[in-house]
Amino acid sequence: MDKDVLIKEAIKIRDKAYVPYSSFPVGAAVLTESGNIYTGCNIENAAYPVSCCAERVAIFKAIANGEKTFQAMAVVADTNRPVPPCGSCRQVMSEFFDAQTTIFLSNLKNQTETLNVEALLPFSFQPGDLSASE
Ligand code: THU
Repeated sequence: MDKDVLIKEAIKIRDKAYVPYSSFPVGAAVLTESGNIYTGCNIENAAYPVSCCAERVAIFKAIANGEKTFQAMAVVADTNRPVPPCGSCRQVMSEFFDAQTTIFLSNLKNQTETLNVEALLPFSFQPGDLSASE
């Protein structure tokens, strides 16, 4: 998997972020098992909680295109450390990605933290937890 390509795609889509309220653009790119890349930026709303993070936009685009398996994701923002995803996005990652799926967290200073879904959200609520008999 090409980490640099994925990060570059996240940086590119970041320019499309709709962030009139936070002025904090974020870009994300997800790589599917078959090699397709889906990108997302954060999209805000005057009703603030309706806003959606870049990570979820990228993942939902991939899911809406019928993708089922993922290799990696990259997230980029202009932060002093590699950007940490919010809790809601970590939960969405844990729904659709394997625990070992690689996540590249990056910033514009070219600093990248590489970790996996399990490390980002340990002991996460899983679909299997909905039924005690399964
Ligand atoms: N945001 C993301 O898109 N991804 C993150 O990982 C952190 C936060 C967005 C949400 C909101 O539009 C803005 O950044 C400020 O929180």
